[in-house]
Amino acid sequence: MKELKILALLIGLTLITYIGIEPIAHAVMHPHMEGPDFQYQDLKAIPGQGDAVKGKELTQMNCTYCHSIKADGVPKPVTKEDLIAKYGRSIEKSLSIQMTFDRISNRYLSEMYTAAVPLDLSNVASVFDEKYLKHFIKDPAGTAFESTFILHKTKKMHLDIAKAKSEEQIEKIETTTAADISTFKAKNKISMPAQSHLTSQDINDIVAYLKSVSKPIDGRESLALACGRCHGVAYDKLEPTTPSKILNKYLGMVPPDLSMSIRSKGHEYLTIFLNDPQKVLIGSSMPRVGISEETESKIVSYLESVGDSKKEDRDSLGMWVILYMTIFSILAYLWKRKIWKEVH
Ligand code: HEC
Ligand code: HEC
Repeated sequence: MKELKILALLIGLTLITYIGIEPIAHAVMHPHMEGPDFQYQDLKAIPGQGDAVKGKELTQMNCTYCHSIKADGVPKPVTKEDLIAKYGRSIEKSLSIQMTFDRISNRYLSEMYTAAVPLDLSNVASVFDEKYLKHFIKDPAGTAFESTFILHKTKKMHLDIAKAKSEEQIEKIETTTAADISTFKAKNKISMPAQSHLTSQDINDIVAYLKSVSKPIDGRESLALACGRCHGVAYDKLEPTTPSKILNKYLGMVPPDLSMSIRSKGHEYLTIFLNDPQKVLIGSSMPRVGISEETESKIVSYLESVGDSKKEDRDSLGMWVILYMTIFSILAYLWKRKIWKEVH
């Protein structure tokens, strides 16, 4: 009888801890974060169908003096002669190796604009969200930075105003918010110029063309395309395409290597951050990149496979531990019965 009481007490205490205390502790240590928004609700839809043939022409006129499109035979806007003119005859020989040519031409392009190296446009339509892509082409900085910074900053302002005690305080909150917004706008720029001369129909045509050359790509390639101008994955021999000196000038810092980000940040944080950095790190100099939900889950799985390759082993070990504990408890119980039988 005594044992049963002890057992009941133990079960009671465990339940109180599990149902009562744990969720409170969890809520304090990991405050609830709003999930990712893959609808990109802050952006207005640009509806309509495009014409890929017209789009090709528009892309050649407006985009290929910065971006290559390997899938359609459009090379990088740099020649060997440009590189020799800038860096000297001594590099001529090494330029016949594709990897060296890529590296030096990336350096050339990033130095020319003091900016991240423009990505190859072949597969952008299969990696980025379509609505986001249309907006980005028209207004890169507004779409990647300002829209969401202003959204979160304004939300926070209203929360602060609701808590304010006087008119003066409210006024102060409003002026600091306005000042923060203009500082942020001046600081964070995307070096791709806004294409405000393009009509909505032009944008639809360009995106129709980009879709027509696009192929689906895996997690590693998606990361290289969407993040690779700023981040590397050293564990998997992925180097950022932009030299770190230029990144430092362009972004005010060198973005971290992503090899271990799944361990240091965790799955939930990454899913929200990659969708919209400003939601969790307001003021961050990482732009919103606008990848689709599918691309994001490919990239996160890839980062898991690089940074946490033992995760599957660990998860499957759990079942064995439970099985071991069960067998062990039965044996312990049988043993206890035997001993006490002799005593009584
Ligand atoms: C003056 C050079 C230049 C021109 C012209 C240009 N781009 Fe860009 N583009 C860039 C640079 C540089 C970046 C990377 C910006 C960054 O990371 O800050 C970029 C980024 C992009 C991205 C990545 C978006 C993201 O969310 O990561 C896409 C897509 C893109 N450009 C498409 C286009 C299209 C389509 C055109 C033509 C309508 C175009 N660009 C014209 C320089 C240019
Ligand atoms: C234009 C450059 C740029 C691009 C493109 C970019 N990032 Fe970043 N990223 C940054 C910078 C800068 C930081 C540091 C931000 C900060 O501390 O404010 C950063 C930070 C991060 C962090 C650390 C977040 C933290 O809380 O410290 C992760 C993880 C990350 N980026 C992943 C990605 C992934 C994945 C992609 C592609 C989908 C990507 N980034 C695209 C520039 C970029």
